[in-house]
Amino acid sequence: MYSERVMDHFTNPRNVGDMADADGIGTEGNPTCGDAMKIYIKVRDGKIVDAKFKTFGCGAAIAVSSMVTEMVKGKTLDEALAISKETVAAELGGLPPQKMHCSNLGADALKKAIEDYRSKQK
Ligand code: FES
Repeated sequence: MYSERVMDHFTNPRNVGDMADADGIGTEGNPTCGDAMKIYIKVRDGKIVDAKFKTFGCGAAIAVSSMVTEMVKGKTLDEALAISKETVAAELGGLPPQKMHCSNLGADALKKAIEDYRSKQK
């Protein structure tokens, strides 16, 4: 029921861990399933140069976190903000409809990390 890419990112997640010197941190949770995701970003010259995550959640949430942190690297903040639950799911080769909220968690945690970074620049 999961695509090969989902299984790959679930069993071999990229960018797991803390980032002590993160420029922005975003946390998002889903009260229904209880899953939670934290995304860290490092920004240089308006581009995201590194990203890490820590996720307490289902396999789809782990795969989404891994994929989001890969997708954002090298993107400008505005390009990263355009990442949605649909684009993450598409990069993962699709997600079952009941798992789309896991994808939403990733897109929302990323948005919050970017907002956190921008609020610190003011
Ligand atoms: Fe809630 Fe996956 S079941 S994030």
